[in-house]
Amino acid sequence: MDTKVIAFANNKGGSGKSTGCSCIAAALSRQGKRVLCVDGDMQLNLTLSFFDEERAFEFAKSAFNTYTLLTKDAAARDCIRRTEYENVDVLPSSTLMSGVEYELFAKWQRETILKRALAEVKDSGDYDYILLDAPPTLGCLVMNMLVCADHLIIPLEASPWGLFGLANMFDFVENVKGINPELTVLGVLVTKVDTRKNYFKQTIDDLGKLENVHVFGEVIRLDSAKEWAQDNSKPVVFYRPSSRASKEFETVAREIVALTSK
Ligand SMILES: Nc1ncnc2c1ncn2[C@@H]1O[C@H](COP(=O)(O)OP(=O)(O)OP(=O)(O)O)[C@@H](O)[C@H]1O
Ligand SMILES: [Mg+2]
Repeated sequence: MDTKVIAFANNKGGSGKSTGCSCIAAALSRQGKRVLCVDGDMQLNLTLSFFDEERAFEFAKSAFNTYTLLTKDAAARDCIRRTEYENVDVLPSSTLMSGVEYELFAKWQRETILKRALAEVKDSGDYDYILLDAPPTLGCLVMNMLVCADHLIIPLEASPWGLFGLANMFDFVENVKGINPELTVLGVLVTKVDTRKNYFKQTIDDLGKLENVHVFGEVIRLDSAKEWAQDNSKPVVFYRPSSRASKEFETVAREIVALTSK
């Protein structure tokens, strides 16, 4: 199987991108897939899902992370860190990513920098999936991520404002297709569902009315197991494999494998 690159992006903050990216990486690895996670956010949340704060800051300050990959020609291979889990590696981020938009702006062919930087790793076939965790913005960095990606997953919080921002995301995807016509929206993943409230059903109904938009069959419910897992620098799928949250991510991962194997 060719390596598939999947971006997790939504300009709405707190929609579950980093949680989804780390937990789906974990679930895919438990299904025998080799996964690289790339942290594209200055908040380091994806990196912190696999490493404690001390290590995350060590990577952030080093010459090998997403920031140096994009701005200093660091080689992707040198930036990849092994995690304690078999089949999951991480390319960590840096707090310096806060200024990356300005630095990218001055660069030649600025929309394809990440694609070119990851090409060697992608073509090596070392991974089945490369998952990209985007920040909550729609600038040149996220453009780079979507230009590099084969597929996009849009995590969406089941809330009125969650739906409100979705149109911007689809407009942005149309722009990206000018450079990456092959990009497909794999689906919208409904997250942070509070089953005590009925609103999430309306979110799913409203999403169902959108043409040509796939909505993942499984929704991700609110689950405090996730917070405990994050507090322990582990994706919940590894921290508590028997939890409901883990089962939900395992189901989504199976659907991702099915959709990307077509
Ligand atoms: N299913 C869930 N159950 C409980 N808490 C959750 C769940 N999903 C996400 N959270 C919490 O919601 C917050 C936002 O989630 P996350 O960081 O994954 O979103 P994000 O889209 O990556 O945010 P940002 O836009 O800031 O990058 C986090 O504190 C996370 O712990
Ligand atoms: Mg995030």
